[in-house]
Order: sequence, then structure tokens, then C-alpha cells
Amino acid sequence: MEEKKVFTSEIKNLVDKWKDKEGNLIMILHEIQNHHGYVPRELALELSSMLEVPLARIYEVITFYNFFKLSPPGKHRISVCMGTACYLKGAPEIIKEIKNILHVEEGRTTQDGNFHLDVVRCLGCCGLAPVVMIDGKVYGKVKKQEIMDIISTYVKEEE
Ligand code: FES
Repeated sequence: MEEKKVFTSEIKNLVDKWKDKEGNLIMILHEIQNHHGYVPRELALELSSMLEVPLARIYEVITFYNFFKLSPPGKHRISVCMGTACYLKGAPEIIKEIKNILHVEEGRTTQDGNFHLDVVRCLGCCGLAPVVMIDGKVYGKVKKQEIMDIISTYVKEEE
């Protein structure tokens, strides 16, 4: 209940701020995304009733733009490069391995909230292909067999 009240006042403030401006739905969604790291369903529902915009329309906008996320960001962010160099050097196998180990899909966060997996285009260090970045740390010339070791250092950190 407490949480609902907080959500309601958060949305009310945003709606007051943006209500007469053009493109207000996107601007409000941006503010929510920046604040929470994703757009929680409860907020989307509140927004739908306050702005009198169908919930389906809100989700249409959220899913159209990559910037908006529907689930909370994971503690550790894994980015796998699928730029040309990395692709040719085996990035698809690396992604497959990460998905198998963590049971997570691209653009999603693991159930325990520890890892978020993203696929990106060229991290700017093609000479190190295939490249994986975790929390800003670059792992170059990554081999499929090394993935388990790399991930387990972050898992240990959590324990
Ligand atoms: S293609 Fe992967 S770092 Fe450039």
C-alpha cells in the first residue's frame, strides 16, 4: 500500500510537470526510466489512468524504443559485442554460452537480479575480438570455455 502511494505521487508530479507539453508521454517515460532504471508496471498503470492513455499505447512506446526497459537492471551488466569482428571471431557462441549458464535472454535480467545481458554493436576494441564487457571491464579474445570462470568471479563477489 505504502509503495502504491509513493508511485501515485511520483506519477502525479510528473503528469503535472508535463501535462501541457507536446510528447509528454515519452518525456514522462524517460524520467521514470532514468529514476528507476526501468519502467515498473505499477507506474505504467498509474500513468495510464492519470494521462488517460490506454495501457497498450504506453507499452507500444516502451517496446518501440530500445532505451526503455521493462525489468530492473541487474547488478552486473554484461555486454557482448556482436560487431562484425566479434561476430566473425565467435561472438554468437559466447552469447549462447552466457545464456546457458545464466538462463537469461538478451535484454533481460537474471531472476536473482545479479546479471543483465545486453548485446551491443562494436565496443571499439575490435583487435581484441571477441569482446565481452562486464561492469565496464573489457575481456578480450574470450573463449567459450573461459566464460564460466569469468562469470563465477562475479558470482563469488555476491556470496
Ligand atoms: S566488433 Fe567487437 S569490439 Fe569492434
